[in-house]
Amino acid sequence: MRKTIRSLRRLRGSIEAPGDKSVSHRALILNAIARGEAVVENFQGGADCLATLRCLRALGVKIDWDGQGTMHIHGGGRFGLRESGDVLNAGNSATTMRLLAGLLAGQPFFSVLTGDASLRSRPMERVVEPLRAMGTHIRGRAGGAHPPLVIEGGPLRGIRYRLPVASAQVKSALSLAALYGEGETILTEPAPSRDHTERMLRAMGVEVRGEKGGGLRILPPQRELTPLSLRVPGDISAAAFWMVAAAAHPDAEIRLTGVGVNPSRSGIIDALASMGASITLEEERMWGCEPVADIVVRSSSLRGTVIEGPLIPRLIDEIPVLAVAASLAQGETVIRQARELRVKESDRIRTTVLELRRLGASIEELADGMIIQGVGRLKGGVCASHGDHRLAMTMAVAGLLAQGETVVRGAEASSVSYPDFWHHLELLSSHH
Ligand code: S3P
Repeated sequence: MRKTIRSLRRLRGSIEAPGDKSVSHRALILNAIARGEAVVENFQGGADCLATLRCLRALGVKIDWDGQGTMHIHGGGRFGLRESGDVLNAGNSATTMRLLAGLLAGQPFFSVLTGDASLRSRPMERVVEPLRAMGTHIRGRAGGAHPPLVIEGGPLRGIRYRLPVASAQVKSALSLAALYGEGETILTEPAPSRDHTERMLRAMGVEVRGEKGGGLRILPPQRELTPLSLRVPGDISAAAFWMVAAAAHPDAEIRLTGVGVNPSRSGIIDALASMGASITLEEERMWGCEPVADIVVRSSSLRGTVIEGPLIPRLIDEIPVLAVAASLAQGETVIRQARELRVKESDRIRTTVLELRRLGASIEELADGMIIQGVGRLKGGVCASHGDHRLAMTMAVAGLLAQGETVVRGAEASSVSYPDFWHHLELLSSHH
C-alpha cells in the first residue's frame, strides 16, 4: 500500500496514542499464568500483540476480546498451559518470540516458535544461550541463532547472568523462566532497559528485588500469581511520531493524552528537550503500576544534540523518527552506541539513512549510529518502509514536514504497532 503525504500549514489536534505494545504483550503473558480472571483495558490490537494473543490461545489460555480494547484473560495458573498441537507463529514480533521462549522453557511439553522472514533473520542466541544455562533443551537454525526455535521444556535452575546488551526482551524472557527455576535468578545489564515486566511481577505478588548496580533478583514464587487488571498506558513510542512532528513544525500544537511516561521509556522527551523542543507534561498520574501523563508539544526551533550511553535503551525505538527531528534542527546531531538498531525489524541504521536521504537529509552512517547535519528543510519524494512499521511512520512524519508531496511505499507496515496511524494523520490534517 502506498500513502501520499502533503505538508500542512498548521498542525493542531489532540491524539490518544494506541495502547503500549510492550505493556500489552506483558499483560497477556503474565495474566495467562496467573490464577483467575484479569481485565485489561486499552489493549493494543496491532499485529504484534495479536500474535501473542493467538499463541497463548493455542497454549490453551481462554481469552475473550471485544475487538476494541477490553480483554478478559482467564489464567489457569503457573502450570495451566497445555502443549500446542501446532507451531506457534510470532509473525513480525520479537517480543512474542523471546518472551514466549522464556515462558515455554519451564513448561513440561514440546513447543516450536516461528515467525515471518524478518523475525526469522533476527538474533535468538541472546535468549537461547542463557535458557540453556538454566537447563532448557532448545534448538534453532544455525545452532540456535535463528528461528524456528524448538523447545523441550522442563525443570529449570536459577542463574546469575549478565546480559551482553541492554535488552528488555532478554531480561523478561529470563524473568519468566526464573518463575520456573529452582533457586533465585540474578540478572544484570549494561544499562537499564524498560522495566514493565518487573513492575507487573511485583504487583502480582512475585518477589523481585533490586540489586546493587541496577540488577534484578527474582525468587521463584511459592504461590500462584495474582491476576493483574490494568488500563494499558498510551504508547510513548507511537506518541513519539507526533512529538517530533509538532516540535519540528513551524506552526504546531499537539496534545497527546494518557501516554506512558515510565522513566525507562521516556528518553525521547529528554532528547527532544535537549534539542530545545517545547514539551510539557500535564495531569501526571498512575495507571496501575505505570505512570502516565498528557504531553503537549509545540513548535520550537531545534538544535543538534548527542544521543549515546544509558539514554540509548530509553529511546531505542524512537531513533528513526529522532533522525527526522535532527534533519530539521540547526547543527549536528550524533547518535552512537546504538548498534542494536541493526537487528530490529529492519537494519534501522541502514534503512533510516537510505530513506531520509531520498528526502534531502544529510546523514552519514556509522557502525553503531549516525551523524546528521541539519538541512533546515526536507523535500518530498518517494520512499519505502522496508516492511518496518517504525520506518513507515517515520517517513510519514518526514513527509509531513517536507516541501511538496511524499509517497511512502509499504505504508501498511504501521499496522504492526499502530493500526490507526493513518487515520490519526487524517485527523490532524482536518484541523488544518
Ligand atoms: C521491547 C524491547 C526492545 C524494543 C522492542 C520492544 C520489549 O527490544 O526495541 O520494540 O517489549 O521488551 P530489545 O529487548 O531487543 O532491546
